[in-house]
Amino acid sequence: MSAYSALAACYDIMNGDAAYEQYLSLLLSYLPKGNNTTVLDVGCGTGDLAIMLANCGFKTFALDLSLDMLTVAAKKVEKAKKKPFFIQQDMREMKVPSPVNLIYSIYDSMNYLNNNAELVHTFTRIYDSLQEKGKFVFDLNSRHRYEDVYKDNTFIMEDVGVFLSWENNYNPKTHYCDFYLHIFLETPSGSGQYRRSFETQRQRYFPLQTVKKCLKQAGFQNIGVYADLELTPLTKENELFCDKYYFIADK
Ligand SMILES: C[S@@+](CC[C@H](N)C(=O)[O-])C[C@H]1O[C@@H](n2cnc3c(N)ncnc32)[C@H](O)[C@@H]1O
Repeated sequence: MSAYSALAACYDIMNGDAAYEQYLSLLLSYLPKGNNTTVLDVGCGTGDLAIMLANCGFKTFALDLSLDMLTVAAKKVEKAKKKPFFIQQDMREMKVPSPVNLIYSIYDSMNYLNNNAELVHTFTRIYDSLQEKGKFVFDLNSRHRYEDVYKDNTFIMEDVGVFLSWENNYNPKTHYCDFYLHIFLETPSGSGQYRRSFETQRQRYFPLQTVKKCLKQAGFQNIGVYADLELTPLTKENELFCDKYYFIADK
């Protein structure tokens, strides 16, 4: 099964401790106030942060490759008055109707790009989709996360109605990390019967200097790199232990 197909049905349960409120505060500090402000979520998944931004009154676009993830997102706002415009699109070929004030991509959506050429290409699309002086905020998984946490470890996650086994295989030479996900989902909910699915995913580790170089190649400037959402500057010391790199760059 393709990435984010079977997983879509239990993504929110497994991602329960996501720091969306913290991301929201960060983005709000960069977004001009007012109804004309536009924002784009790249790799929005099941849409939580995009929905929060739409509720704040911003015109919000949210794209993702996975129709299953977007279907879960759209269900959350079926009856809502304020909602994001969800779009099924590959970020590598993304297009927006008109340039936006801010673009963000969170929870390692960009680690699904396969190589440096795709990274530069996508950054260029993002640059072209921003208004003058627009901001680009995103995160990527760190070297520590791939080499020390994912490695070749297997994680088991369990919650009401779902059981997930997540095997990892990180290759430090190619920088590819393959995930093998066995998902058991109670279907229908409460029935006591579980449907088994299997999907694979591949992420790529992008070293810090590569990311900065690719951002500059795409035209970005004032590139800030941080170790957390409080914007602690990334140093040689905290890089050894941080899970993600957080980037903020200007058009
Ligand atoms: C780890 S999830 C993060 C989702 C969301 N940003 C969140 O905060 O929960 C990664 C998302 O990236 C999406 N994705 C992966 N490759 C993509 C691509 N080439 N274009 C658009 N979306 C992509 C996946 O479908 C998935 O929904």
